[in-house]
Amino acid sequence: MKFTTPATTNPIDQLKVVGQPVDRIDGPCKTTGTAPYAYEQHAAAPNAAYGYVVGSAIAKGRIVSMSLDEARRAPGVIAIVTADSAGKLGKGKFNTAKLLGGPDIQHYHQAVALVVAETFEQARAAAQLVQMKYAAEKGAYDLAKAKDKAAPHPDKENKDSKVGDFAGAFASAPLKLDATYTTPDQSHSMMEPHASIAVWNGDKLTVWTANQMIDWSKGDMARTLGIPKENVRLISPYIGGGFGGKLFLRAEALLAALGAKAAGRPVKVALQRPLMFNNTTHRPATIQRIRIGASREGKINAIGHESWSGDLPDGKPETAVQQTKLLYAGANRMTKMRLAVLDLPEGNAMRAPGEAPGLMALEIAMDELAEKLKMDPVMFRIINDTTSDPSNKDRKFSQRRLVECLRTGADKFGWNQRSAQPGKTRDGRWLVGMGVAAAFRNNLVQKSAARVRLDRNGVVTVETDMTDIGTGSYTVIAQTAAEMMGVPLAKVVVKLGDSSFPVSAGSGGQWGGNSSTAGVYAACVKLRDAVAQKLDLDPAGAAFAGGTVQAGGRSMPLAQAAADGDVVAEDLMEYGDLDKKCQQSTFGGHFAEVGVDIYTGEIRVRRMLAVCAAGRILNPKSARSQVIGAMTMGVGAALMEELVIDQRGGFFVNHDLAGYEVPVHADIPHQEVIFLDETDPISSPMKAKGVGELGICGVGAAIANAVYNATGVRVRDYPITLDKLIAKLPATA
Ligand code: MOS
Repeated sequence: MKFTTPATTNPIDQLKVVGQPVDRIDGPCKTTGTAPYAYEQHAAAPNAAYGYVVGSAIAKGRIVSMSLDEARRAPGVIAIVTADSAGKLGKGKFNTAKLLGGPDIQHYHQAVALVVAETFEQARAAAQLVQMKYAAEKGAYDLAKAKDKAAPHPDKENKDSKVGDFAGAFASAPLKLDATYTTPDQSHSMMEPHASIAVWNGDKLTVWTANQMIDWSKGDMARTLGIPKENVRLISPYIGGGFGGKLFLRAEALLAALGAKAAGRPVKVALQRPLMFNNTTHRPATIQRIRIGASREGKINAIGHESWSGDLPDGKPETAVQQTKLLYAGANRMTKMRLAVLDLPEGNAMRAPGEAPGLMALEIAMDELAEKLKMDPVMFRIINDTTSDPSNKDRKFSQRRLVECLRTGADKFGWNQRSAQPGKTRDGRWLVGMGVAAAFRNNLVQKSAARVRLDRNGVVTVETDMTDIGTGSYTVIAQTAAEMMGVPLAKVVVKLGDSSFPVSAGSGGQWGGNSSTAGVYAACVKLRDAVAQKLDLDPAGAAFAGGTVQAGGRSMPLAQAAADGDVVAEDLMEYGDLDKKCQQSTFGGHFAEVGVDIYTGEIRVRRMLAVCAAGRILNPKSARSQVIGAMTMGVGAALMEELVIDQRGGFFVNHDLAGYEVPVHADIPHQEVIFLDETDPISSPMKAKGVGELGICGVGAAIANAVYNATGVRVRDYPITLDKLIAKLPATA
């Protein structure tokens, strides 16, 4: 089905099931420990052997020689896979570095061997006996040093943007800001590690794995192994978080496949936590220079955003300037991204890639300029709102309610209690401050297919390769099918994450919820027609409700259509050039209150509020969970998270959850989320949008601005740790 805009009135608009805050249908099996995650698919491979990954001990160079004899003789060892023994391997479309290194090494902890043994402990013990001799080369690991050699990236979407005369307008602006901000490398650090079980049946490979994008990764597995795509099956029904870290085929899945081949039996591999940080991908650090020029009345006339980031050769820049093209008005503008070659592990997407670090910088800059203008930072944002793409007046936003998000948030948060002068509010030993930031994240729509089946008991079964990474896909898909077919949720069965099902949008870029349900909608439209035909009813006027189908004054039980066999329908929703015709984005306002201990510089977040405008909210409960999770991640980005680079060895030092600090419950205060009542008929027949990434966008800056408001100390280098504050705090009185 091709989506035509605007979406007309359709059965989803009934909102009997869709739009209701129903509990997760996968909740009971997760909370009782019966949801089988990738590593727990014991039934699939009861005789699986265990693989243990060996990571490179150098960041750049090559393996000169290796000695595997001792490891081979160790108890229980069945096979050892290295680049030497694996034969010729291709490279995935979505991978920058090779998943199995050797003889050349591209980054620290790049996998160089998999040791397969009868038990996990034997594999781990034998892995310590693998001896590699390396010739290390000097690599580049320091973005600040590599910055001046950074180059433009060739892809069209990464090229410089220019509107009007930025340099002239900035030079002559009565009030201006020119400041540089930095964001560090960050790790996804999802709870479930990368894990896979691989089973060969002749030349057919099945892998139970933890993966967000089944079809991408199935393709990359085939490309890497050099086998036909149809010989690969990936199954990923339950996933313990991803945040972008599981968008792609990763080493543990490839090595499980190679290990299973070498061992002649199934092999399971869970990437050990200390390897995850350097072996997999991360969000790359940025250096961002922002220049904004405004009139004395606070109208932006010049806005420029430049970002530098690094990646391995053939990598991509962190697109931190994206939102600056679209968020605020201003006649004269420029953005620029420069990419430095660094020999650190591969940089790639992490929750709201681009916008998340981009807004951490831009939204401090807006706060700084508002202060120079002596203008309230909420008002400064409001007067610089735009209704169309500032580079193209004819290109309108499908919906844009940034102003309403900011006004609603200010009102609900008690913004009028904020002192415009920093360092003025005390609560005992705490300096208290409030901060605001705009949230912006593009809404992407992706083609998505599903199959639906009605059986004689009136049960509707949905099959699609869509994944649920903890987001609630199972539930919103069930709600969609229930609404479309007029049955209660209990009559819907949802099967996800199997590459033998129709290809979905997958979970990425906050497109999963809207796009995958739209595919289910399309399949259900077809199923409704097929059912009506079976029952000799006119499909055009048929109403599906309460387990019956009504048309032309007749009412028949839905199940009767399947009395002599299942009725099955499959379809997909596709969007053509919709994204070219209209700008689709999601908006929000983040508000934070912090306390800073005047003696120690300790920062505690005291209150948080997000107001989101993100189209129809398919399930307010799971959407709220997405947003508070993202706000929590934003607190991590503001105050804690930083991969620390060893500049000699070229690796992330704090490569475990003891050293890479993320927020825990005790760090997070009461969080509130308000969704503006909105439907967006341009986004899909669901009239929904993404919200899971919007929730993190801007949080870091709202907290940074609150810290400034509390203390008068402006920190431009994330994370805002107490060492950056303590010497500058006001004198205690
Ligand atoms: Mo997202 S970073 O596309 O999982």
